[in-house]
Amino acid sequence: MKPFQYAIIGGTGVYDSGVSSFHKTVETEYGEVEVDIAEVKNNSIAFLARHGKEHGTLPHRINYRANLKALQKLGVQHIFATAAVGSLNPDYPTGSLVVLSDFLDMTKQRPLTFFEGGSEGAKHVNMDDPYCANLRKHLLEAAKRHDVQFKGNAVYICTEGPRFETEAEIKMMREWGADVVGMTSVPEVVLAKELGLCYASVGFVVNMATGMESGPIQLKSIGEMLARNKEKANLMFLDIFTKTLDQQNCRCLDSIVNLYNSFD
Ligand code: HPA
Repeated sequence: MKPFQYAIIGGTGVYDSGVSSFHKTVETEYGEVEVDIAEVKNNSIAFLARHGKEHGTLPHRINYRANLKALQKLGVQHIFATAAVGSLNPDYPTGSLVVLSDFLDMTKQRPLTFFEGGSEGAKHVNMDDPYCANLRKHLLEAAKRHDVQFKGNAVYICTEGPRFETEAEIKMMREWGADVVGMTSVPEVVLAKELGLCYASVGFVVNMATGMESGPIQLKSIGEMLARNKEKANLMFLDIFTKTLDQQNCRCLDSIVNLYNSFD
C-alpha cells in the first residue's frame, strides 16, 4: 500500500468521488474503525464516514477518539472534514459553503480528550488556531480553481444533540458570536490537534437554525444539496492532496503544552 498522509472525514464514502477504493478495518485501543482507502498518485487517502456507512451513528454516539486514532495509526497527517450545519448568520443562507475558523463547545457528555494525566503529565492543547491555517489557505486557493464560492469563515458552535436547539438557545448563541451550529466538529477538531494532525473543515449550510425563519427547521431538499456540495468539496480535497503538503506552515505539530515542563 502507498504511504498515507491524507484523509477525508464526513462523506458517505469514496464512491461519490469516482476513485476506486478498498475497505480496511483499523484496530485501536478505543475500538475498531472502518475506512475506505483510495490510492491516488503517490498517496493512499483514507475516507472515513463519521456516522457509519448507513448513517446510523448519531453525533453523541460517534467514537471520535477511535476515528482519529485510526487515522493517525494509518500515518495520516492532513485531514479535511465536512459538516452539515444550521446557520445563525443571515449572510450564510441555506446552500452556502463556509470554512470553519473557530468553535464554541456546548457538548455535554462525550469523551473530549486523549489526555489522561498520570505518567504522561499535565498536557493541554492550544486552541488559538483550532482549524489548521495552512489547510484553510489551500482550501481558499482550491475554491478559486474549482469555481466554488465560500461565503466566508464561520464560528461553529457544537451542541450535544441529537435534538435541535431552541429558539432561545439560538438567540444566545448568536450573541456569543456563532455563525453556524452542528453536532460533530467537537471533539473531532480537538482530538486531531492533540495528535498533532492538521485538520480543516468545510461547513454545508443545510438549514437556517431554529427561529431564524418562521416555523420549524426545514430540511427539505437536504439530500440533493448535500450530494452536490459533497462532490464539489471532495474534488477540491483531492486536488489539494495531489500537492505535497507539509506541516511547516502551521502550528499543528507544536500545540501541546506540558504544564509541569513549562515550570522547570
Ligand atoms: N442544529 C444542529 N445541528 C445541525 C443543524 C442545526 O440546525 N443543521 C445541521 N446540523
